[in-house]
Amino acid sequence: MTAERISPLIDPFNRRITYLRISVTDRCNLRCRYCMPDIHIRFLPREKVLTFEEVETIVRVMARTGVKSLRLTGGEPTVRTGIVDLVARLRAIPGIEDIAMTTNGMLLPKLAEPLKAAGLNRINISLDTLKPERFKFITQFGDFNTVWEGILAAEAAGLAPIKLNAVVMKGVNDDEVIDLAALTLEHPWHVRFIEWMPFGEDGAEVYRLDGIPNAFMPLTRVKARLEEAFGPLEPADAEVRGNGPARSFKIRGAKATIGFIRPITEEHFCARCNKVRLTADGKLRLCLLTDHEIDLMGPLRAGLDEAGLEALLRAAIQTKPERHLVNEGIIPNLRRMIQIGG
Ligand code: 5AD
Ligand code: SF4
Repeated sequence: MTAERISPLIDPFNRRITYLRISVTDRCNLRCRYCMPDIHIRFLPREKVLTFEEVETIVRVMARTGVKSLRLTGGEPTVRTGIVDLVARLRAIPGIEDIAMTTNGMLLPKLAEPLKAAGLNRINISLDTLKPERFKFITQFGDFNTVWEGILAAEAAGLAPIKLNAVVMKGVNDDEVIDLAALTLEHPWHVRFIEWMPFGEDGAEVYRLDGIPNAFMPLTRVKARLEEAFGPLEPADAEVRGNGPARSFKIRGAKATIGFIRPITEEHFCARCNKVRLTADGKLRLCLLTDHEIDLMGPLRAGLDEAGLEALLRAAIQTKPERHLVNEGIIPNLRRMIQIGG
């Protein structure tokens, strides 16, 4: 066995970890209602945010344990100063095959080209509605036309595939699932419907949205609704690049797929999990929906070398929860979505 030979990261439930999501900032230029609730959120001071060097070190070590795919998230990743440079630096790390980003799209008209040139492969853009008024309501500071331009800019820059994320909320945008799905007839953009995930300490806050006490919308019946409108959907998991959490289908003759991400109602959702998350403040979060994290920034800043970091990561992976317990009433409360990045 050579020193370079990879010994993969495998958790106690036999899931191989090949995918790291990196939250590069906890700041955002929008305030989407499902992501950032009304409570006061204090942003991290700069010195509490991982530097690019620290992110590079962690990625270099993780790449040696078989992590191949990265996704940059936030907050909003494009508001981090130097994001284009970070993409280029991560692109240069041996073993990293794929770099993606999840963004609200507001800055893409300007950044799509430079991000692509720096080595970004593909992009997911949040698009919960096609109605400009409603877009403003959901995102608070967002602008539909700017994001639409951003999607077109991403396509023109050659970021592919493009995926559009729609969090479906009852009484807010669930009347648009057919219109959103119909985008796949016109454009090569994969549309993915996502179940709203709960964060927050008390039942009152969870799924509450501006006067609607419970806007949670299970995606269990959406596929049937789409089939009434478009005819039978064909299974299409094999057609989408990126081994993400969606179950994908396709309208006959469409240019792209429709995916369902059902962390709450899909029974074996967690069994397919292949990822861990790095928060902007340098914690390894083993499960999006479980408040359990291992600090990497502290040990790194105390002088831990790369061998030590690798040992720490391997030990951390052994603590990845088997599944989230949201359906048993255990709601993550340590952070809000904006501080994890999905
Ligand atoms: N539940 C589900 N999805 C969410 N997102 C943000 N907050 C939530 C939530 N509470 C989505 C965003 C973005 C991605 C990072 O996650 O719309 O597309
Ligand atoms: Fe910002 Fe994205 Fe959260 Fe909206 S969902 S507030 S764009 S981080």
